[in-house]
Amino acid sequence: MPKKIRSSNAVLKEFLDKTRRRIEEGFSKWLPISDETPSKLRDSMRYSVFAGGKRIRPILCLTVGEGLGLKGDAILKASCALELLHTYSLIHDDLPALDNDDLRRGHPTNHKVYGEAIAILAGDSLLTMSFEWLAESSALGISSDLVIDALLCFSKAVGEEGMVGGQALDMNSEFQKIDFETLKHIHLLKTGALIRASIEIGAILAGADEETKKSLSKLGENAGLLFQITDDILDVEGDISTLGKRPGSDKRKGKATYPSILGMPKAKELAFEAHKNAIEDISRTTIEIPHLKNIVDLFYNRIF
Ligand code: IPE
Ligand code: IPE
Ligand code: MG
Ligand code: MG
Ligand code: MG
Repeated sequence: MPKKIRSSNAVLKEFLDKTRRRIEEGFSKWLPISDETPSKLRDSMRYSVFAGGKRIRPILCLTVGEGLGLKGDAILKASCALELLHTYSLIHDDLPALDNDDLRRGHPTNHKVYGEAIAILAGDSLLTMSFEWLAESSALGISSDLVIDALLCFSKAVGEEGMVGGQALDMNSEFQKIDFETLKHIHLLKTGALIRASIEIGAILAGADEETKKSLSKLGENAGLLFQITDDILDVEGDISTLGKRPGSDKRKGKATYPSILGMPKAKELAFEAHKNAIEDISRTTIEIPHLKNIVDLFYNRIF
């Protein structure tokens, strides 16, 4: 039976707290405010960005980028860009036309507060702004060749070939009996692609060599898959106060998830396997990136 993995909690907690504070400061500094001219659009963008969230995508990008030698605001802004994109994906994911959820990050969903039209537009603006922020890492000191590579990686990960394509397959699979390969493919796209890109972009911007980028990309794939399997498990077993969203959403919408297609014991076994694969990928990386293994352990341990 899969078990919780032990890791050095105090050091990791201190690192995560500090990294999250830097990310929040980045948002405070760079997100436009609705000052002299009140703007419902800006308010709604800020509402979802500052609603909380674990910030795992920017944490991964910063951990990898700085672990490979980057410093300063360029990698911080690129990392925050990933969270803007993720926040847009959540606002749209919660809309009545998609998952129709009313609670996110412990607060009413964006469309419940601002209405559907503004929620759609807030998502659109965050999506667009994420590309602007990533591109700006060039003005902040990273070579434009590397930034172009990162933008290419980002575009592929979040568009039709990645996150959005996965969301479309997820919608088409509601109340369908799909096979395991299709299920895995959906998870790799809708959630895996952005998590993988978060790691890859850290490595690309740091100018990592091809071998390092390859093993980190494999790690990103396994960690991304792990993250969505555990998200599915928590939708069944988690509680509203820790999740900040309403469990049972997948069942209500007839979603194809690891527990619904394969049963809970098998879903947990596959989470264990994805974690094991991710850890093996880390051990194959020639450069040791501080805290990376402990973060991946955290992805797995959240189902206990
Ligand atoms: C939720 O992501 C949506 C998925 C892709 C599974 P997170 O669990 O990272 O949500 P936040 O950012 O912490 O709210
Ligand atoms: C969402 O998957 C993936 C996204 C691209 C946002 P879910 O629909 O399972 O995410 P939650 O459970 O609503 O956070
Ligand atoms: Mg969804
Ligand atoms: Mg959802
Ligand atoms: Mg979910």
